[in-house]
Amino acid sequence: MSTVRPTSETVAAKNSAAKNSAAKSSAAERSGAESSSLDAFARETLADLDARSLRRRLVDTARGPGPAARRGGRALVSFSCNDYLGLSDDPRVIAAGQEALARYGAGAGASRLVTGNHPVLAALEARLAAHKGKDAALVFGSGYMANLGIVPALAGPKDLVLIDALGHSCLFAGAQVSGATMLRFRHNDVDHLRGLLSARRGRHGRALVLTERVFSMDGDRAPLSAILEAAAAHDAWTLVDDAHGLGVVEAGARAPLEMGTLSKTLGSYGGYLCASRGVIDLMTSRARSFVYTTGLPPASAAAALRALEIVEAEPERAARPLALARRFTARLGLPEAQSPIVPVLVGAAEAALALSAALEARGFLVVAIRPPTVPAGTARLRVAFSAAHTVDQVDALAEALIGLGAGAATAP
Ligand SMILES: Cc1ncc(COP(=O)(O)O)c(C=O)c1O
Repeated sequence: MSTVRPTSETVAAKNSAAKNSAAKSSAAERSGAESSSLDAFARETLADLDARSLRRRLVDTARGPGPAARRGGRALVSFSCNDYLGLSDDPRVIAAGQEALARYGAGAGASRLVTGNHPVLAALEARLAAHKGKDAALVFGSGYMANLGIVPALAGPKDLVLIDALGHSCLFAGAQVSGATMLRFRHNDVDHLRGLLSARRGRHGRALVLTERVFSMDGDRAPLSAILEAAAAHDAWTLVDDAHGLGVVEAGARAPLEMGTLSKTLGSYGGYLCASRGVIDLMTSRARSFVYTTGLPPASAAAALRALEIVEAEPERAARPLALARRFTARLGLPEAQSPIVPVLVGAAEAALALSAALEARGFLVVAIRPPTVPAGTARLRVAFSAAHTVDQVDALAEALIGLGAGAATAP
């Protein structure tokens, strides 16, 4: 039997293989150590959230048709969707999306500034601007991304941003990214806003006031005319987030900056800003969440455009969610609904989860909303009404809640 004597090359090769494997195993150990501290962090944080009933979980749920939902093999009626006019599965909206998908493909390919502006997006922007009575509009990847881009394009570290205390997370995120001094004014409290402007406006260059037309978790409306007046008196620019108002509550006063989303009443996906031509041109160059991200897929834009045409052509449909919400608040003895969103205040997060589970057992999907989405101690059910709900479904939910002891006693 012959033996193979090691040559200098094979020795060198073996040594280098040994070194490589040592390097690999110490890298593996290091990454093991890193991932174990990472996993420990995740575990501990989740345990803390569990202990406070604040952990969030994804639950497999099939939506549709209309307000129907299927969860764990059970049929439910959903009151947890922002598709206020039931347009996300309207055959005309689906057809418009399908046609654009077949014609233009699934994705936009690049930032619109790089790959070119898609005619479908330009058409949607023209329609949005006309709907809002503004010169121009700009579509973003989502409503959240819109606010993340708009606020820092208008305000910087020397400036002032005032936000309604119950404003949406993306308004606060935009203000934080801007580096401006950020102040909260008490919810819908115009006197407080005026006071802050009088005391603090003079120390800053530019100033922005951020509020919502319809508040996402409370369903109430901002006193917009008074806010616009207070802001203008101090040369502050008002941005109104119209995510939950478009097409379902009367617009009333218009702000210089009207932003919103394509994902709720318009049943699609994406965000937008409507404003003067100059402001939109500025955003096109300076809003980082517009410049440095891929354009909205043409199919989403085409679906939203068709939905907007339907909103304008069918005003009776637009009135229905608010009418159903008012029927519900009257039945439960709650303050009259101001929008299709009705909060049923519960208080403790655990109690809100329990009430939601009890409703689910009775065939209703009404998700519990807990801190930090809402202030501590104000966990609630957020009931959202759609034109697609029937009166019987609304009455059945009201009866179920009354049976569970919810109602006037739990009103804010
Ligand atoms: C008031 C408000 N603004 C902005 C957004 C974000 O919009 P989008 O879902 O398109 O990111 C939402 C909801 O998600 C919202 O409720």
